[in-house]
Amino acid sequence: MKLAIVGTGYVGLVTGACFAQMGNNVICVDIDQKKISDLKKGIIPIYEPGLEEIVKNNFKIGTLHFTTDIKEALKNSEIVFIAVGTPQGEDGSADLQYVLAVAEEIGKYMVHPVIVVDKSTVPVGTADKVRATITDQLKKRLKNKDIDKATFEKLMEFDVVSNPEFLKEGDAVNDFMKPDRVVIGADKKESMERLKELYAPFTRSHERFIGMDIKSAELTKYAANAMLATKISFMNEMAKIAEAVGADINMVRVGIGSDSRIGYSFIYPGVGYGGSCFPKDVKALEKIALDAGVDPKIVKAVEEVNKEQRVYFLNKILNRFGNSLEGKTFALWGLSFKPETDDMREAPSITIIQELTKRGARIRAYDPKAMEEAKNFWLKDIENVEYFDNKYDTLNEADAMILVTEWKEFRSPDFMEMKKRLKSPIIFDGRNQYKKEKLKELGFEYHQVGVR
Ligand SMILES: NC(=O)c1ccc[n+]([C@@H]2O[C@H](COP(=O)([O-])OP(=O)(O)OC[C@H]3O[C@@H](n4cnc5c(N)ncnc54)[C@H](O)[C@@H]3O)[C@@H](O)[C@H]2O)c1
Repeated sequence: MKLAIVGTGYVGLVTGACFAQMGNNVICVDIDQKKISDLKKGIIPIYEPGLEEIVKNNFKIGTLHFTTDIKEALKNSEIVFIAVGTPQGEDGSADLQYVLAVAEEIGKYMVHPVIVVDKSTVPVGTADKVRATITDQLKKRLKNKDIDKATFEKLMEFDVVSNPEFLKEGDAVNDFMKPDRVVIGADKKESMERLKELYAPFTRSHERFIGMDIKSAELTKYAANAMLATKISFMNEMAKIAEAVGADINMVRVGIGSDSRIGYSFIYPGVGYGGSCFPKDVKALEKIALDAGVDPKIVKAVEEVNKEQRVYFLNKILNRFGNSLEGKTFALWGLSFKPETDDMREAPSITIIQELTKRGARIRAYDPKAMEEAKNFWLKDIENVEYFDNKYDTLNEADAMILVTEWKEFRSPDFMEMKKRLKSPIIFDGRNQYKKEKLKELGFEYHQVGVR
């Protein structure tokens, strides 16, 4: 099929590349000129395992194209995906300005009726807004005599469907290629069938296609993210209780995870969730509920607990070193909001670094993939942060090591090397990566989450 993907970010680029990999003809559109010219040169703007190879291969064989010109993309496509950002607006709701700007352009430049697919995470009712925006533009074109009545009527056959994306950064290509499910919300049977056909190569082993009405599809995405965020916040609350009563949250985690009704995923205690999705989607769901007259008590608590978790972890450091950190140096391992990505959006590392440097501390940081992103953008205005190409080099003269992101390369470090380099052998582990007894034996002072 001929597809256009508007918005070439984490979701758009992965979607475009994976559809191209299945033999579709895909044009990825973005307003970011540099991103598009880099992609044409084979420079991939984000780190996502496996992505570079399929982008480069499909670009080379001509199944994947890049452009800043949406007109060109619309001319050559039957299905148009909207995959632009939906950041948090001032009142907590999802800001739809980018989605609706794309809808406006589709209405302005569509030359044959297309199926418009909302892939961005959007509040219930957005498909109606997208439809109305496109219709307004078509009416303008008719009024201005840019198109005649027959063309207008033909173009009005366009449709809008909802297809929320469930991929996770760090494993996005894999998730897209082998999805747990593909959710489509559509009113028209023909659109549903087209999408089913498009996704068929990804769901060959068994049926993973879930068709539903548009509003349910829109809400499904928020419900999924809020559920996962709830598991994390629940576990972080349990961690605090465990620590207060003298239990070990690591034991409790294994104890409850073994129950198949609960499962092991998303019950790791830590420094709280971050990233481009959970924080804004939990907030947006709260707004959706309030606007609909429902008081979302659990959803509100999930966000509150998450914010407190960073403070709780920070307090462990302040309780040990005092409120003034003048003259103190900390080695910080892991900057990205989670492993296997360079994404720094809402990363807990940002809050931790801000709070420590505000109190006079110096930071020596290392991350396998996110250092450029941190240095050039997210942490560029924070003084007293130095970056190192090697995790061990951060430890020289440091008063303690703080582990923030659980990259695999941090799992089994050379503890003797660490001890040799640190000024004092102290570790604050925000992801409970090590065994307390072992570190004690090696002479470390080891602080973790949910353990006294
Ligand atoms: N990142 C994830 O893990 C993830 C997972 C599932 C769903 N989502 C949702 O998918 C959507 C996109 O997220 P993302 O992380 O890919 O965002 P992103 O910020 O990485 O990418 C968005 C892209 O859209 C481009 N853009 C903005 N306005 C445009 C326009 N008018 N025309 C063309 N391009 C335009 C931007 O330049 C940018 O490259 C969001 O709604 C997000 O909530 C994200």
